[in-house]
Amino acid sequence: MGRRGSLGVAALSVPFVPTPVQVIRRALEVAGLGEGELYYEPGCGDGRGVVMAAAEFGARAVGVEIRRDLFEAAVRRVVEAGVEDRVLLLHGSFMEFGVPKADVVFLYLLSSVNEKLRPAFEESLSEGARVVSHDFAVEAWKPVRIVLVEEHGRIHRIYYYVAGESW
Ligand SMILES: C[S@@+](CC[C@H](N)C(=O)[O-])C[C@H]1O[C@@H](n2cnc3c(N)ncnc32)[C@H](O)[C@@H]1O
Repeated sequence: MGRRGSLGVAALSVPFVPTPVQVIRRALEVAGLGEGELYYEPGCGDGRGVVMAAAEFGARAVGVEIRRDLFEAAVRRVVEAGVEDRVLLLHGSFMEFGVPKADVVFLYLLSSVNEKLRPAFEESLSEGARVVSHDFAVEAWKPVRIVLVEEHGRIHRIYYYVAGESW
C-alpha cells in the first residue's frame, strides 16, 4: 500500500486547473514542437494540450489523466478534432505509466510533483528534448528561458528547459 498511497497523494495534490489555450500554444512555440515529434503531457486534463499538439503542430501526442471524467472529455475532444490516429490517451496515474521518449513535455503540475517525476524525465529524455512547465518550476533544473504570457490580465510563466543544457 505504501507506494500506492504516495501516488494517491500526488494525484490529489494537483487539482484540475486548465491552461488557457493561448498559453499552451505559446509554450509549444517556445519548445519548437515540430511535425512528427512526440509530445507528452502527464496530467492532460480535458485534452486541450494533446489536441493542439496533434492538430496545430502535427505532432504525435501521449496524454495521461487520472480523473475519469477528464479522461473521457479528452477522448471526446480528440475524436471531435479527428486526431485519433496521432493521440494516445491513458487513464491512470502518470507515476505508474512511466515517461515515454518524448521530444517535448508539457507540465502544469506542482513543483513537488515535478520533483517526483524528475528522475524519470532524466532517465527517459534524450539530449535536445524540451520541457515546458506552466507556472511551476522544476527546481533542480536551470531554465534556458522563462517566458511570460499575459492572458485576461493574468501573467502566466512558462519555464523552458532543454535536456543536456538544463540538467
Ligand atoms: C493543473 S491540471 C492541468 C491540466 C492540463 N495539463 C492543462 O494544463 O490544462 C493537473 C491535471 O493533472 C491531473 N493529475 C493529477 N495527478 C495525476 C496523476 N498522478 N496521474 C495523472 N493525472 C494526474 C489532474 O486530474 C489534472 O487534470
